[in-house]
Amino acid sequence: MILVTGGAGFIGANFVLDWLAHSDEPVVNLDKLTYAGNMQSLQSLDARSAHHFVRGDIGDRVLVESLLREHQPRAVVHFAAESHVDRSIHGPGDFIQTNVVGTFNLLESVRTYWSALAPEQAQAFRMLHVSTDEVYGSLQANDAPFTERHAYEPNSPYSASKAASDHLVRAWHHTYGLPVLTTNCSNNYGPYHFPEKLIPLVIHNALAGKPLPIYGDGLQVRDWLYVGDHCSAIRTVLANGRLGETYNVGGWNEKTNLDVVRAICAHLDAAKPKVSGSYADQISFVADRPGHDRRYAIDASKLSDELGWRPRETFETGIAKTIDWYLNHPQWVDNVTSGAYRDWVHQQYAAQAR
Ligand code: NAD
Ligand code: TYD
Repeated sequence: MILVTGGAGFIGANFVLDWLAHSDEPVVNLDKLTYAGNMQSLQSLDARSAHHFVRGDIGDRVLVESLLREHQPRAVVHFAAESHVDRSIHGPGDFIQTNVVGTFNLLESVRTYWSALAPEQAQAFRMLHVSTDEVYGSLQANDAPFTERHAYEPNSPYSASKAASDHLVRAWHHTYGLPVLTTNCSNNYGPYHFPEKLIPLVIHNALAGKPLPIYGDGLQVRDWLYVGDHCSAIRTVLANGRLGETYNVGGWNEKTNLDVVRAICAHLDAAKPKVSGSYADQISFVADRPGHDRRYAIDASKLSDELGWRPRETFETGIAKTIDWYLNHPQWVDNVTSGAYRDWVHQQYAAQAR
């Protein structure tokens, strides 16, 4: 079996669903269920005994070590993090606590477990750390995309905390021999995405008749990766990645934010036309994010050359799938935006301390 951290979040939930669609190998899913954790994303697994959910903090050494001893996973896939740049600007403390201190504690728990494994299991064991392209900082318009050798130049509290976690993971390999792999991916999008991030926020606001906020001039560039392609990249690196190596994962889909928002509006105009006008009429330019990185772009050729991975979706096919998913899952969106998804947490854990 494998242990996944943060498997109730956007990418983690997609990964757990994808994993169990591809294999019978069970998953222990450890998630603290912060505001970003949503058990409704995993509802389709209710009847599956191969999914074992545990509410808890990656920084809780007693809990994590007992889970590892009990379930004896052959791998840990580490998604759990505070992930939203804007939140990190308003309150960086949780980012340091989970992304840095939490990852440190997780590494120590995994090291304790791994050190006690029999040689054959210890050799087969892997810990895959999921990180971001934001650790590399910001590119100018004509710079080459980020390779794995690009210097770390994080600019936001979020990216600095992820950079710190990457360094810890690297050091635990170098110093203690822990068998780690790291992936640094670009901006993901797809189903089950919390509507605080650009793409789900714009889809939701467009349908709700609200303004579509564009920070600054909207000409910042991101390299969009469909979440299903990210899941297949993680499976590939986990299976065949070289120990201690880092693999960049990107969609080869650089777009300005304005182009992304216009593409969503055009798709919605066709799929669910307004009574009059276009969804693009709701675009509203707002104050820029402090320290806003201008451009991210990933060179994923190491992953494709070494391990044969390529994304299946173009931005056009991926965004069409994503918008269709949101149109077909209004209940999931309503529960997230109304906060009703939190009720499950209260019901389930009413008696427990939080
Ligand atoms: P998310 O915010 O949607 O989900 C994070 C999950 O982690 C939530 O379920 C939350 O409850 C859980 N969590 C938070 N703190 C925890 C703790 N202390 N212990 C246990 N669980 C905890 O994030 P996401 O978008 O799914 O991102 C997953 C990973 O991928 C993160 O490490 C993030 O840095 C990285 N990443 C994300 C993107 C993106 O575009 N979303 C891009 C690059 C990298
Ligand atoms: P976001 O989804 O927050 O991801 P990240 O900051 O990790 O790249 O934002 C993607 C881009 O969209 C980023 O350049 C900020 C911009 N943005 C807006 O213009 N308006 C918004 O309301 C949001 C949430 C983001």
